[in-house]
Amino acid sequence: MSPAADSHRATRIGITGLGMHVPSKVLTNADLEKMVETTDEWITSRTGIKERRIAEPGVATSDLATEAAREALAQAKLKPADVELIVTATTTPDMLFPSTSCIVQDRLGATSAVCFDLSAACSGSVFAMITAQQFLLNGRYRNALVIGAEVLSSFIDWTDRATCVLFGDGAGACVMAPVKRGGILASDMGCDGSAKDLLYMPGGGSRNPPSHESIDQRMHLLRMNGTEIFKLATRAMADSAIRVMKEAKLSPEHVECFIPHQANTRIIEAVAKRARLPMAKVFMNLQRYGNTSAASNLIALYEAVKEGRVKRDDHVVLVAFGAGLTWGSIALQW
Ligand code: UT7
Repeated sequence: MSPAADSHRATRIGITGLGMHVPSKVLTNADLEKMVETTDEWITSRTGIKERRIAEPGVATSDLATEAAREALAQAKLKPADVELIVTATTTPDMLFPSTSCIVQDRLGATSAVCFDLSAACSGSVFAMITAQQFLLNGRYRNALVIGAEVLSSFIDWTDRATCVLFGDGAGACVMAPVKRGGILASDMGCDGSAKDLLYMPGGGSRNPPSHESIDQRMHLLRMNGTEIFKLATRAMADSAIRVMKEAKLSPEHVECFIPHQANTRIIEAVAKRARLPMAKVFMNLQRYGNTSAASNLIALYEAVKEGRVKRDDHVVLVAFGAGLTWGSIALQW
């Protein structure tokens, strides 16, 4: 597109800075072999995960989120005092209230920012980016700090081999703002609340407030029907990716990098096949971090850019899926 034509196009919202932070403690499959009846072979062949990061006791989601946010702000050359909106996607907030975004605001000194959290489980960072995009497109705010952060290890049943091998802790962040070049081309979101019981944590909310009984019944820990989630995730993510590519007028050949939610290599392979995206274009880092839920897509985008898998002008498709059920995708030009 010529510079003249470009100046007349509708404003697009893009990413002007990225950050990530994971705890230094590594939990390997060999470590898990000592905790539950499992093997490195089973975990690797069924999920692709080799290790994950685990926060030390006392470390909360806002701690990881603040570190990732600082890096994203520095990359965007945006001073904390100039941040206008903070949206944090998390399933594991520091506490039910106040929002983790308000805690991060205070830690950063982002005194002018409007802050709220968003609950969309593993689709969190994609939902939060699309939400921030709306505020930026309509001109309400001039920039936004979007964070996906989790300390899932606090809510994992470490005696349940079917779930404890899957998840990890971490945070990703990005700064979003109107851009002259590239930016978000299209987005897609969907939900199916009828499948809410396939992946959930029943305790700790108003339905089952904390009690001795709720603790005894392990209600404050994650529960999942992995097989059903597997099937639904594959279909929903592929269909969402196909829709977003269509809306962005991108065929699979035009996509340089595909960044799916990092839950399971087999799910990702099935999604890529259904969406006609070759595995050579797919970015994966789940082998090192496991499923970091709301942080997953942002951490993956961060590393894809850092490793040179996403270059200037490349077309990127992010796709997510999570509890709710929720799913969503973003097509953007870098
Ligand atoms: O972000 C969205 C969140 N969730 C997901 O994306 C998870 C989606 N689901 C999955 O990734 C897969 O369903 C799992 C990896 C969780 C499980 O893989 P699967 O191929 O669906 O295995 P399965 O649940 O059907 O279990 C097969 C066998 C069972 O034994 P039996 O009943 O066949 O004797 C399980 O008890 O594997 C057993 N098993 C394990 N064995 C060793 C389950 N977990 C383990 C384990 N180690 N950690």
